[in-house]
Amino acid sequence: MKTITVNLNAVKPFISDAALREWNDKALKAVDVLTQKTGKGNDFLGWHNLPSSITADELARIEKVAGQLSKDAEIVVIIGIGGSYLGAKAVIDALSHSFDNLMPRQHPLVLFAGHNIGEDYLSELLDVIQHKSTACVVISKSGTTTEPAIAFRIVRKHIEEKYGKAEARKRIAAVTDGKHGALRTLAVQEGYETFAIPDDVGGRFSVFTPAGLLPVAIAGFDVAALIKGAAEMERQTVERKSENIAVQYAAVRNALYATGKKIEVMANYHPKLHYVIEWWKQLFGESEGKEHKGIFPAGVDFTADLHSMGQYLQEGERLLFETVLSVVAPQRRLTIPKDAQNLDQLNFIAGKRINECNKMAELGTILAHVDGQTPNIQINIPCLNETNIGALLYFFEKACGISAYLLGVNPFDQPGVEAYKKNMFALLNKPGFEKQGEALRKRI
Ligand code: PA5
Repeated sequence: MKTITVNLNAVKPFISDAALREWNDKALKAVDVLTQKTGKGNDFLGWHNLPSSITADELARIEKVAGQLSKDAEIVVIIGIGGSYLGAKAVIDALSHSFDNLMPRQHPLVLFAGHNIGEDYLSELLDVIQHKSTACVVISKSGTTTEPAIAFRIVRKHIEEKYGKAEARKRIAAVTDGKHGALRTLAVQEGYETFAIPDDVGGRFSVFTPAGLLPVAIAGFDVAALIKGAAEMERQTVERKSENIAVQYAAVRNALYATGKKIEVMANYHPKLHYVIEWWKQLFGESEGKEHKGIFPAGVDFTADLHSMGQYLQEGERLLFETVLSVVAPQRRLTIPKDAQNLDQLNFIAGKRINECNKMAELGTILAHVDGQTPNIQINIPCLNETNIGALLYFFEKACGISAYLLGVNPFDQPGVEAYKKNMFALLNKPGFEKQGEALRKRI
């Protein structure tokens, strides 16, 4: 199987071989810490062998419920935030037609909600679903997150009023904690089809649980192939050797961080990878950004952002390194036409594939950025299909675990996420938060 590769050639001018070897050795030790479950947060390692342990029965149930929800639905609204939305969104966008909304459909249109608190967004969602046959999947591991809970109230009310309670039961599924939480209680009470996110899998590592797989199956993609790719990468990256690409990526980003490169800019040259980068930002940002440490993960879509961020990347403050997600082969073939007038002077590329221009933009940019003192890591993806996306996402999960252990933090908690929630509840006068509310209002 052609698989993901990592190219570190454009990092070498910036890090000595000795430093790289040192970080590689440390990363190999971190692999042991993950495998032997001896590190911080080791009760959240369920993701580590998840792809290889998913059973055919579990996949069959996901496919079956996806089929039931899709049967009479033109739209399925997926409700979730953070790790309960970004994995599914990343996979679906990477695999869908770029103009999916406008294409003839064999599967329902998947729309997302609950990832913001937008009054206009939710009102406009209602504008759309009121004229379409609609189903819904609500995803929240805790079952108490405010954003998806608000969106679910709105969508559930709409579905119940439109179809009645009995039919609504067939149109709503929940993915949540196996035993606890408000959403579990509601799902049991209402008799929804329900899937569990395992206790030992945190939100941002949950893409290979039903939180990611059910929406992906509803969108019509092959979840078995996604898991196959992830399982193959699980096998490759469990190996304690320096060829392990998760070890290489984790080691090199920490080596760069140690030299003052505090921001990693992940770039794609394929618009379908925008949300893979959004997912990666959450994975690394929430796993590493703690104890006043951590590489700041940023994302850009090239070549579009070369016309907005290119100047900074080339000549701004030199605290960046760049990681390029490079898709080797596009799915489609299109060449640049010859033009008799040649006013734009582009006939020198007439007859060439668009992808050749894109690749030269990519290579030219890497060389320019390296000249501008920005080290570059290249991650090559043979093409966008389920197997490769599964492999890519698992590769990042593994590298993230290793990298956070190299940094010395617990990759699997997110204590800082609570601060804004407490303030929001206090400002909204949630019972029990009165004193905090009063104190906060004095500061406004
Ligand atoms: O990675 C995480 O744990 C978070 O991003 C959660 O996924 C996010 O906050 C949503 O939480 P929940 O699934 O409990 O609604």
